[in-house]
Amino acid sequence: MAAPLTRHTPSPTWTAVDGYALSHTHPASRPNSAALSATLSASAAAGLPEISVSAAQGKFLALHCRSARVAHALEVGTLGGYSAIWLASENPGLKVTSVEVDPVHAEVARGNVKKAGLEGQVEVVLGAGVDVLGRLQGEVERGERERFGFVFVDADKKNNWEYVRLAKGMVESGAVICVDNIVRGGRLVDEGSQGEAGVLGSRRVVEEVGRAEGLDAVVLQTVGEKSYDGWLWIVVE
Ligand code: SAH
Ligand code: DHB
Ligand code: MG
Repeated sequence: MAAPLTRHTPSPTWTAVDGYALSHTHPASRPNSAALSATLSASAAAGLPEISVSAAQGKFLALHCRSARVAHALEVGTLGGYSAIWLASENPGLKVTSVEVDPVHAEVARGNVKKAGLEGQVEVVLGAGVDVLGRLQGEVERGERERFGFVFVDADKKNNWEYVRLAKGMVESGAVICVDNIVRGGRLVDEGSQGEAGVLGSRRVVEEVGRAEGLDAVVLQTVGEKSYDGWLWIVVE
């Protein structure tokens, strides 16, 4: 356990670097830029919390899916569909199944997906992650559904390990399971934060993955316009 947490003020430099780099690597002239901006605006206008992945994170996940030639991606936690729209719009052959428990979020996401012209690629499934993943796992086991090549876990943090455990049973060999918001400004190792359900869920998934058979993983800390956080990046044997 580390010493008590130093509070990290989000650095204007991190945001400036994201802005500079994206203006070159993903300028507003890209085919999906307008749809991505419209998704964030419509989600904010509908009162959704502004907790989507950053543009750089969304693009990183989409580029990973491209280089790994992922055909089917699974997401837990859709919100307004921003991360799902990144994955689908950067990868024309990719099908995204995204699970959302909040009916308002799911409806806003479906509207954003439709406006982006991605209804054929993104399916938003309404339901609690544990229930829906259990059902999807049954479908995969019965051969009624293709195995997933990438999973993004970004929902209620207390269930992180349950989501990884269920995802492990329905992915291809070599698939990545990425768990968002693992570091949370260092709260992962802050003694004063250990009562928080999200932090407990994040510590549990790190510790369970560390001892699980058939999973190898790393925690990658990140900074940027979404401040200081990090991913648990798991590769399935
Ligand atoms: N991946 C999105 C952000 C997701 S925010 C993006 O980057 O654009 C987290 C979402 O998880 C919220 O919409 C919340 O309603 C949803 N969520 C919370 N608990 C859930 C559960 N038990 N099952 C499915 N979704 C859940
Ligand atoms: C929160 C949730 C997220 O998934 C995220 O990326 C950032 C913040 C939150 O619940 O505060
Ligand atoms: Mg998140």
